[in-house]
Amino acid sequence: MASDPLISTGRVLDSFGGAADRYNSAAGLQQSMAWRLAGNCSRLPIEKGLWVDLGSGTGCLADALEQTFPGQMILRLDGSIAMLRRQRTGTRTQLHDLSRGLPSWPERPQLLASSFALHWLPDPALKLRQWLEALSFGGWLAVTLPVQGSFPEWQRAADQAGERCSALSLPERTELLSAIPSAAIQLDHCLNITQTAAHPKDLLKPMLTTGACVTQGGGLSTAGWRKLFRAWPGDAETGDAMLSWRILFVILKR
Ligand SMILES: C[S@@+](CC[C@H](N)C(=O)[O-])C[C@H]1O[C@@H](n2cnc3c(N)ncnc32)[C@H](O)[C@@H]1O
Repeated sequence: MASDPLISTGRVLDSFGGAADRYNSAAGLQQSMAWRLAGNCSRLPIEKGLWVDLGSGTGCLADALEQTFPGQMILRLDGSIAMLRRQRTGTRTQLHDLSRGLPSWPERPQLLASSFALHWLPDPALKLRQWLEALSFGGWLAVTLPVQGSFPEWQRAADQAGERCSALSLPERTELLSAIPSAAIQLDHCLNITQTAAHPKDLLKPMLTTGACVTQGGGLSTAGWRKLFRAWPGDAETGDAMLSWRILFVILKR
């Protein structure tokens, strides 16, 4: 996760900013998780007021929430101006670096929502607690992100090839929730998703395209990648390469 000193906020934001124009073309997983989180929110009695999408990117989650709750506007907050420029016209945006904490708003938010952004911040467990504490009393925090336990095939291929696994190291679910009072936890659910493709390269390409490719250890040599791809586990029947994600959905109430 981004708490590692080798991964700087500037590098993360530059990488996403550079990918902003092509982000939506490769963010199918992010889009479906954003809709799933908005679906979770649709059942909650969230008061009208300030609703914010933290690390909004191009606005997948904010768009899903605005369509789920007609008439409710979502403030789209991101550290990348290029990402914020990709919003639909008529939306509200705020440029802010979340590694410095939340900005101060004239009112406390009724909803803080975030999809696939928390794991890019330093100390995600602390951020989660701070986000909960920033809510209005009775307000809601709805977050989804990939967690440890993702990418077992990548790790196995690296072990077998004798190469380093250069996947981003992700937050651990129990650690993330360790500082959250249990009474606040309304949903704590992990979803396992396995993607398949003819070649493992095709499974990793969306990370490059969306800018989600900054990792703690840097990349491998061309020969290293070739060895790793040869060792990548395939589906027993089709032989297709697989990449599994463990995606946490958390809903907290203040
Ligand atoms: C994988 S994208 C997710 C975007 C969107 N939530 C979605 O689901 O498609 C991660 C987003 O987090 C933003 N981000 C990363 N670090 C940030 C920081 N320190 N402050 C604000 N935004 C940040 C990036 O600019 C990027 O837009």
